[in-house]
Amino acid sequence: MWKQAIEDAVAKTRANIERFGDQFPHVSTNDVYHLNPNMDWTDGFWTGMLWLCYEYTGDDVFKRAAENNVASFRKRLDTLDHLDHHDIGFLYSLSSKAQWIIEKDEAAKQLTLEAANVLLKRWRPKSGIIQAWGKEGDEHNGGRIIIDCLMNLPLLYWAYETTGDKKYYDVAVQHADKSRRFLVRGDDSSYHTFYFDPENGNAIRGGTHQGYEDGSTWTRGQAWGVYGFALSYRYTKNPLYLETSLRMAQYFLERLPEDHVVYWDFDAEINADTKRDSSASAITSCGILELLSHLPEDHEDRAELEAGLQRSMKGLVAYSTMNEQDAQGLIKRGSYSVRAGNSPDDFVIWGDYYYLEALMRLEKGHKGYWYE
Ligand code: GLY
Repeated sequence: MWKQAIEDAVAKTRANIERFGDQFPHVSTNDVYHLNPNMDWTDGFWTGMLWLCYEYTGDDVFKRAAENNVASFRKRLDTLDHLDHHDIGFLYSLSSKAQWIIEKDEAAKQLTLEAANVLLKRWRPKSGIIQAWGKEGDEHNGGRIIIDCLMNLPLLYWAYETTGDKKYYDVAVQHADKSRRFLVRGDDSSYHTFYFDPENGNAIRGGTHQGYEDGSTWTRGQAWGVYGFALSYRYTKNPLYLETSLRMAQYFLERLPEDHVVYWDFDAEINADTKRDSSASAITSCGILELLSHLPEDHEDRAELEAGLQRSMKGLVAYSTMNEQDAQGLIKRGSYSVRAGNSPDDFVIWGDYYYLEALMRLEKGHKGYWYE
């Protein structure tokens, strides 16, 4: 089944190269992707899909398209166009870092290191956090972290391993530790965001941006935690990160609905209209695959994780567009922000990316582009 799903994804990505041209897909309305000229936080996911398709097929059409994308990311960094946020890890891990991993292209490596330096500028030493959004001193976002940022840390860990300069590692670890302590709650659920006093780092309160309410567990936030802590473990070997990823994954899997694809928030009221977030299930599947790669063969929780992974992936294939040849997206029923009414039941490009990464991990033993 995975092979068939990959073949379908490759065919759709091939058709999308023509459709999208020099533009980048973000989320859909009425099954049509909104395109932008490389200025959103999501634009690396399309490039990552192109690289995955290139590695699967060896077809230069994907490589050329991916390289053109990386050239666009070069310009974006040169002009610092819409880079005043923490998502530089998503953008450059899947574009220039992927190119470096695949082609050992020196310019791609340098671009990725420059991107890591831009991310590092968001480190706020007084509060000990990487500020997610807004300018330094921003009244609302000045001391705010979000759980999504865990997926931006691999860019910093990689920069440390590549240059030997420990400043990248130290920032990533301090941010991961603070995220673990304050974003993850005692029952293994999570806050989407947390506020600290920007002057001294004192904890203020948890909250949400895209979740149901401040104290609820937004399923995609939980997913970022599962994968993000597993990756922090890969780079640091701190067993607390592995344990946190495992416990967050168990919390997630214990709450799968009958069709195995999660609703958008674990605390949202469930009725016939409740939206799902297939992207949260896709991210968590990749996170579980990463987690499993670190657990011993006889670990007592392996069987439960493997069963949950199979259920999630089968649920995603059931929500895929495999039987809709002309569809632009790969998996239906993603949500960007149900709370804000922003693409609440649509294609989302990161859902498509993580779905394809999970399929490639399952079928080909691929490991994604978060580490070399
Ligand atoms: N990182 C933004 C989101 O997950 O919507």
